[in-house]
Amino acid sequence: MALVNSKKMFEQAYKNGYAIGAFNVNNMEIVQGITEACKEEKAPVILQVSKGARAYANHTYLVKLVEAAVLECPDIPVVLHLDHGPDFETCKSCIDGGFTSVMIDGSHLPFEENIALTKKVVDYAHERGVTVEGELGTLAGIEDDVKVEHGAESYTKPEEVIEFVTRTGVDSLAIAIGTSHGAYKFKPEQCTRNEQGILVPPALRFDILEEVSKKLPGFPIVLHGSSSVPQDYVKMVNENGGKMPDAIGVPEEQLRKAAALSVCKINIDSDLRLAMTGTIRKFYNEHPDKFDPREYLKPARANIKEIVRHKLINVLGCAGKAEECK
Ligand code: G3H
Ligand code: 13P
Ligand code: ZN
Repeated sequence: MALVNSKKMFEQAYKNGYAIGAFNVNNMEIVQGITEACKEEKAPVILQVSKGARAYANHTYLVKLVEAAVLECPDIPVVLHLDHGPDFETCKSCIDGGFTSVMIDGSHLPFEENIALTKKVVDYAHERGVTVEGELGTLAGIEDDVKVEHGAESYTKPEEVIEFVTRTGVDSLAIAIGTSHGAYKFKPEQCTRNEQGILVPPALRFDILEEVSKKLPGFPIVLHGSSSVPQDYVKMVNENGGKMPDAIGVPEEQLRKAAALSVCKINIDSDLRLAMTGTIRKFYNEHPDKFDPREYLKPARANIKEIVRHKLINVLGCAGKAEECK
Protein backbone atom coordinates (compact mmCIF):
# COMPACT_ATOMS: atom_id res chain seq x y z
CA MET A 1 0.00 0.00 0.00
CA ALA A 2 1.01 3.63 -0.43
CA LEU A 3 2.39 5.72 2.44
CA VAL A 4 -0.36 6.73 4.89
CA ASN A 5 -0.80 9.48 7.47
CA SER A 6 -1.01 8.59 11.16
CA LYS A 7 -4.77 9.02 11.69
CA LYS A 8 -6.01 5.43 11.47
CA MET A 9 -2.93 4.04 13.26
CA PHE A 10 -3.49 6.30 16.24
CA GLU A 11 -7.24 5.59 16.37
CA GLN A 12 -6.54 1.86 16.53
CA ALA A 13 -3.60 2.19 18.90
CA TYR A 14 -5.65 4.30 21.32
CA LYS A 15 -8.66 2.01 21.20
CA ASN A 16 -6.67 -1.20 21.61
CA GLY A 17 -3.98 -0.16 24.11
CA TYR A 18 -0.81 -0.30 22.07
CA ALA A 19 1.62 2.21 20.55
CA ILE A 20 3.14 2.60 17.11
CA GLY A 21 6.95 2.55 16.99
CA ALA A 22 8.49 5.67 15.48
CA PHE A 23 12.04 4.84 14.46
CA ASN A 24 14.54 7.35 13.07
CA VAL A 25 16.07 6.54 9.69
CA ASN A 26 19.34 7.86 8.27
CA ASN A 27 20.49 5.28 5.72
CA MET A 28 19.50 2.18 3.78
CA GLU A 29 20.52 -0.39 6.39
CA ILE A 30 18.46 1.29 9.11
CA VAL A 31 15.38 1.49 6.83
CA GLN A 32 15.81 -2.17 5.90
CA GLY A 33 16.40 -3.40 9.46
CA ILE A 34 13.28 -1.67 10.76
CA THR A 35 10.93 -2.52 7.92
CA GLU A 36 12.02 -6.16 7.61
CA ALA A 37 11.11 -6.65 11.28
CA CYS A 38 7.76 -4.87 10.80
CA LYS A 39 6.99 -6.90 7.69
CA GLU A 40 7.68 -10.22 9.47
CA GLU A 41 5.77 -9.16 12.58
CA LYS A 42 2.90 -7.58 10.61
CA ALA A 43 3.29 -4.28 12.43
CA PRO A 44 2.34 -0.75 11.35
CA VAL A 45 5.31 1.61 11.50
CA ILE A 46 6.35 5.25 11.51
CA LEU A 47 9.69 5.98 9.84
CA GLN A 48 10.88 9.38 10.93
CA VAL A 49 13.46 11.74 9.53
CA SER A 50 15.08 14.56 11.49
CA LYS A 51 16.53 17.80 10.15
CA GLY A 52 19.95 16.22 10.79
CA ALA A 53 19.01 13.13 8.78
CA ARG A 54 17.96 15.30 5.83
CA ALA A 55 21.25 17.18 6.06
CA TYR A 56 23.20 13.90 6.21
CA ALA A 57 21.45 11.71 3.66
CA ASN A 58 19.50 14.22 1.53
CA HIS A 59 15.70 14.51 1.42
CA THR A 60 15.30 12.71 -1.91
CA TYR A 61 17.45 9.73 -0.95
CA LEU A 62 15.50 9.25 2.28
CA VAL A 63 12.10 9.52 0.57
CA LYS A 64 13.17 7.06 -2.12
CA LEU A 65 14.56 4.60 0.46
CA VAL A 66 11.27 4.72 2.33
CA GLU A 67 9.31 4.32 -0.93
CA ALA A 68 11.44 1.27 -1.72
CA ALA A 69 10.57 -0.17 1.71
CA VAL A 70 6.86 0.42 0.98
CA LEU A 71 7.20 -1.57 -2.26
CA GLU A 72 9.02 -4.36 -0.43
CA CYS A 73 6.48 -4.42 2.40
CA PRO A 74 3.13 -3.98 0.62
CA ASP A 75 1.05 -5.41 3.47
CA ILE A 76 1.97 -3.01 6.28
CA PRO A 77 0.97 0.64 6.63
CA VAL A 78 3.97 2.99 6.74
CA VAL A 79 4.02 6.68 7.76
CA LEU A 80 6.87 8.94 6.65
CA HIS A 81 7.19 11.56 9.39
CA LEU A 82 9.33 14.65 9.97
CA ASP A 83 10.85 14.44 13.47
CA HIS A 84 11.32 17.73 15.38
CA GLY A 85 10.43 20.04 12.51
CA PRO A 86 12.18 23.26 13.54
CA ASP A 87 10.18 25.78 11.48
CA PHE A 88 7.33 26.24 8.99
CA GLU A 89 9.64 26.11 5.95
CA THR A 90 11.09 22.69 6.86
CA CYS A 91 7.59 21.31 7.49
CA LYS A 92 6.35 22.75 4.17
CA SER A 93 9.31 21.29 2.30
CA CYS A 94 8.59 17.84 3.76
CA ILE A 95 4.84 18.09 3.12
CA ASP A 96 5.48 19.18 -0.48
CA GLY A 97 8.16 16.51 -0.81
CA GLY A 98 6.16 13.38 0.01
CA PHE A 99 5.99 13.12 3.82
CA THR A 100 2.62 12.02 5.21
CA SER A 101 3.11 13.40 8.72
CA VAL A 102 5.17 16.16 10.33
CA MET A 103 6.10 17.31 13.80
CA ILE A 104 6.40 21.03 14.40
CA ASP A 105 8.47 21.43 17.53
CA GLY A 106 7.62 24.77 19.07
CA SER A 107 8.17 23.44 22.58
CA HIS A 108 11.01 25.90 23.28
CA LEU A 109 8.79 28.89 22.35
CA PRO A 110 6.46 30.87 24.61
CA PHE A 111 2.96 29.30 24.67
CA GLU A 112 1.30 31.81 22.30
CA GLU A 113 4.15 31.58 19.76
CA ASN A 114 4.08 27.79 19.91
CA ILE A 115 0.32 27.91 19.19
CA ALA A 116 0.70 30.34 16.29
CA LEU A 117 3.52 28.38 14.62
CA THR A 118 1.83 25.01 15.16
CA LYS A 119 -1.48 26.27 13.78
CA LYS A 120 0.24 27.62 10.66
CA VAL A 121 1.74 24.18 9.99
CA VAL A 122 -1.56 22.40 10.75
CA ASP A 123 -3.46 24.63 8.29
CA TYR A 124 -0.97 23.90 5.51
CA ALA A 125 -0.69 20.18 6.32
CA HIS A 126 -4.38 19.37 6.72
CA GLU A 127 -5.25 20.87 3.33
CA ARG A 128 -2.88 18.25 1.91
CA GLY A 129 -3.95 15.24 4.00
CA VAL A 130 -0.85 15.34 6.21
CA THR A 131 -1.12 14.83 9.99
CA VAL A 132 0.70 17.02 12.52
CA GLU A 133 2.33 16.39 15.91
CA GLY A 134 2.89 19.32 18.28
CA GLU A 135 4.79 19.46 21.55
CA LEU A 136 4.28 21.02 24.98
CA GLY A 137 7.04 20.80 27.60
CA THR A 138 10.75 20.27 26.93
CA LEU A 139 12.91 17.18 27.21
CA ALA A 140 16.54 17.15 28.28
CA GLY A 141 19.14 16.01 25.75
CA ILE A 142 20.24 16.93 22.26
CA GLU A 143 18.19 16.93 19.11
CA ASP A 144 19.73 18.58 16.07
CA ASP A 145 20.94 22.04 17.17
CA VAL A 146 18.93 22.27 20.37
CA LYS A 147 20.64 21.10 23.57
CA VAL A 148 18.65 21.18 26.79
CA GLU A 149 20.74 20.51 29.92
CA HIS A 150 19.48 18.05 32.51
CA GLY A 151 17.72 20.17 35.11
CA ALA A 152 16.57 22.73 32.51
CA GLU A 153 13.87 20.49 31.07
CA SER A 154 10.24 21.22 31.98
CA TYR A 155 7.34 18.84 32.37
CA THR A 156 4.20 19.43 30.34
CA LYS A 157 1.59 21.47 32.22
CA PRO A 158 -1.71 19.58 32.00
CA GLU A 159 -3.65 22.85 32.39
CA GLU A 160 -2.33 24.00 28.97
CA VAL A 161 -3.16 20.99 26.82
CA ILE A 162 -6.84 21.59 26.02
CA GLU A 163 -6.20 25.13 24.82
CA PHE A 164 -3.15 24.05 22.78
CA VAL A 165 -4.91 21.17 21.05
CA THR A 166 -8.13 23.10 20.42
CA ARG A 167 -6.50 26.24 19.06
CA THR A 168 -3.91 24.50 16.88
CA GLY A 169 -5.92 21.51 15.60
CA VAL A 170 -2.95 19.14 15.98
CA ASP A 171 -3.51 15.40 15.50
CA SER A 172 -1.21 14.27 18.32
CA LEU A 173 0.69 15.86 21.19
CA ALA A 174 4.19 15.09 22.45
CA ILE A 175 4.52 15.60 26.20
CA ALA A 176 7.39 15.71 28.66
CA ILE A 177 7.03 13.30 31.60
CA GLY A 178 10.66 12.53 32.40
CA THR A 179 12.04 10.91 29.26
CA SER A 180 14.96 12.58 27.48
CA HIS A 181 16.91 12.26 24.25
CA GLY A 182 20.12 10.28 23.85
CA ALA A 183 21.81 7.46 25.76
CA TYR A 184 22.34 9.27 29.09
CA LYS A 185 18.82 9.79 30.35
CA PHE A 186 19.50 9.47 34.06
CA LYS A 187 22.55 9.98 36.24
CA PRO A 188 23.56 6.93 38.35
CA GLU A 189 22.93 8.98 41.51
CA GLN A 190 19.27 9.42 40.46
CA CYS A 191 18.87 5.63 40.31
CA THR A 192 18.47 2.93 42.95
CA ARG A 193 19.95 -0.59 42.76
CA ASN A 194 17.68 -3.64 42.60
CA GLU A 195 18.49 -7.07 44.13
CA GLN A 196 20.59 -8.02 41.11
CA GLY A 197 22.63 -4.83 41.50
CA ILE A 198 21.14 -3.29 38.37
CA LEU A 199 20.52 0.48 38.36
CA VAL A 200 16.81 1.33 38.26
CA PRO A 201 15.96 4.87 37.12
CA PRO A 202 13.23 6.99 38.72
CA ALA A 203 9.72 6.36 37.40
CA LEU A 204 8.26 8.50 34.65
CA ARG A 205 5.60 11.02 35.71
CA PHE A 206 2.55 8.87 35.04
CA ASP A 207 0.52 11.30 37.14
CA ILE A 208 1.07 13.97 34.44
CA LEU A 209 0.23 11.52 31.65
CA GLU A 210 -2.99 10.56 33.41
CA GLU A 211 -4.01 14.17 34.00
CA VAL A 212 -3.33 15.03 30.35
CA SER A 213 -5.34 12.00 29.20
CA LYS A 214 -8.28 12.96 31.41
CA LYS A 215 -8.32 16.39 29.82
CA LEU A 216 -8.00 14.99 26.28
CA PRO A 217 -10.04 11.78 26.16
CA GLY A 218 -9.40 9.77 23.00
CA PHE A 219 -6.50 11.99 21.96
CA PRO A 220 -3.15 10.39 20.95
CA ILE A 221 -0.14 11.25 23.09
CA VAL A 222 3.48 10.91 21.92
CA LEU A 223 6.57 10.06 23.95
CA HIS A 224 9.96 11.17 22.69
CA GLY A 225 13.25 10.08 24.21
CA SER A 226 12.00 6.54 24.77
CA SER A 227 15.07 4.41 24.17
CA SER A 228 15.81 1.89 26.90
CA VAL A 229 19.58 1.79 26.25
CA PRO A 230 20.02 -2.02 26.44
CA GLN A 231 22.94 -2.75 28.73
CA ASP A 232 24.12 -5.66 26.56
CA TYR A 233 24.84 -3.20 23.76
CA VAL A 234 26.42 -0.65 26.10
CA LYS A 235 28.72 -3.49 27.25
CA MET A 236 29.43 -4.49 23.64
CA VAL A 237 30.43 -0.90 22.83
CA ASN A 238 32.60 -0.58 25.94
CA GLU A 239 34.29 -3.97 25.46
CA ASN A 240 35.23 -3.11 21.91
CA GLY A 241 37.00 0.20 22.25
CA GLY A 242 34.01 2.45 22.94
CA LYS A 243 33.52 4.71 25.92
CA MET A 244 29.93 5.08 27.07
CA PRO A 245 30.05 5.08 30.86
CA ASP A 246 26.76 5.19 32.75
CA ALA A 247 24.49 5.12 29.70
CA ILE A 248 20.99 4.57 31.14
CA GLY A 249 17.57 4.51 29.45
CA VAL A 250 13.85 4.24 30.23
CA PRO A 251 12.87 0.79 31.57
CA GLU A 252 10.81 -1.07 29.01
CA GLU A 253 8.04 -1.97 31.50
CA GLN A 254 7.31 1.74 31.89
CA LEU A 255 6.99 2.19 28.14
CA ARG A 256 4.70 -0.82 27.94
CA LYS A 257 2.53 0.75 30.63
CA ALA A 258 2.45 4.07 28.72
CA ALA A 259 1.50 2.25 25.50
CA ALA A 260 -1.47 0.65 27.24
CA LEU A 261 -2.66 4.13 28.29
CA SER A 262 -3.07 7.07 25.89
CA VAL A 263 0.45 6.98 24.40
CA CYS A 264 0.04 6.03 20.74
CA LYS A 265 3.53 6.85 19.37
CA ILE A 266 6.84 5.99 21.02
CA ASN A 267 10.05 7.43 19.56
CA ILE A 268 13.10 5.19 19.53
CA ASP A 269 16.41 6.16 17.95
CA SER A 270 19.30 5.76 20.39
CA ASP A 271 18.68 2.02 20.87
CA LEU A 272 19.10 1.45 17.13
CA ARG A 273 22.26 3.57 17.09
CA LEU A 274 23.67 1.54 19.97
CA ALA A 275 22.86 -1.76 18.26
CA MET A 276 24.56 -0.58 15.08
CA THR A 277 27.62 0.89 16.77
CA GLY A 278 28.13 -2.03 19.16
CA THR A 279 27.86 -4.55 16.34
CA ILE A 280 30.28 -2.70 14.08
CA ARG A 281 32.82 -2.13 16.88
CA LYS A 282 32.72 -5.83 17.74
CA PHE A 283 33.13 -6.78 14.09
CA TYR A 284 36.18 -4.50 13.70
CA ASN A 285 37.72 -5.97 16.83
CA GLU A 286 37.15 -9.56 15.76
CA HIS A 287 38.11 -9.04 12.11
CA PRO A 288 40.87 -6.43 11.92
CA ASP A 289 41.74 -7.65 8.41
CA LYS A 290 38.30 -7.01 6.82
CA PHE A 291 37.51 -3.83 4.95
CA ASP A 292 34.36 -4.53 2.92
CA PRO A 293 31.57 -2.31 4.41
CA ARG A 294 28.97 -4.93 3.49
CA GLU A 295 30.57 -7.36 5.92
CA TYR A 296 30.06 -5.13 8.96
CA LEU A 297 26.84 -3.43 7.84
CA LYS A 298 25.15 -6.80 7.37
CA PRO A 299 25.30 -7.89 11.06
CA ALA A 300 24.54 -4.30 12.11
CA ARG A 301 21.36 -4.36 10.01
CA ALA A 302 20.45 -7.81 11.37
CA ASN A 303 20.77 -6.57 14.96
CA ILE A 304 18.66 -3.48 14.22
CA LYS A 305 16.02 -5.84 12.89
CA GLU A 306 16.10 -7.95 16.06
CA ILE A 307 15.92 -5.01 18.43
CA VAL A 308 12.96 -3.59 16.48
CA ARG A 309 11.26 -7.00 16.54
CA HIS A 310 11.70 -7.09 20.32
CA LYS A 311 10.18 -3.60 20.67
CA LEU A 312 7.18 -4.45 18.47
CA ILE A 313 6.36 -7.58 20.44
CA ASN A 314 7.38 -6.78 24.00
CA VAL A 315 7.23 -3.01 24.38
CA LEU A 316 4.89 -1.39 21.86
CA GLY A 317 2.39 -4.24 21.55
CA CYS A 318 1.79 -3.46 17.85
CA ALA A 319 2.95 -6.78 16.35
CA GLY A 320 0.14 -8.30 14.30
CA LYS A 321 -1.76 -4.99 14.11
CA ALA A 322 -0.93 -3.99 10.51
CA GLU A 323 -4.29 -5.07 9.09
CA GLU A 324 -6.47 -3.11 11.53
CA CYS A 325 -4.40 0.05 10.93
CA LYS A 326 -4.99 0.11 7.16
O1 G3H B 1 15.35 13.33 18.80
C1 G3H B 1 16.18 13.24 17.93
C2 G3H B 1 16.46 12.00 17.18
O2 G3H B 1 17.14 11.07 17.97
C3 G3H B 1 17.20 12.33 15.92
O3 G3H B 1 18.49 12.70 16.21
O4 G3H B 1 18.80 15.00 15.30
O5 G3H B 1 20.74 13.45 15.65
O6 G3H B 1 19.10 13.03 13.81
P1 G3H B 1 19.34 13.61 15.17
P1 13P C 1 15.91 8.41 22.01
O1 13P C 1 17.14 9.25 22.00
O2 13P C 1 15.52 8.03 23.40
O3 13P C 1 15.99 7.24 21.11
O4 13P C 1 14.69 9.33 21.47
C1 13P C 1 14.49 9.52 20.10
C2 13P C 1 13.50 10.59 19.82
O5 13P C 1 12.78 11.07 20.66
C3 13P C 1 13.42 11.04 18.43
O6 13P C 1 12.56 12.13 18.29
ZN1 ZN D 1 12.47 13.46 19.94
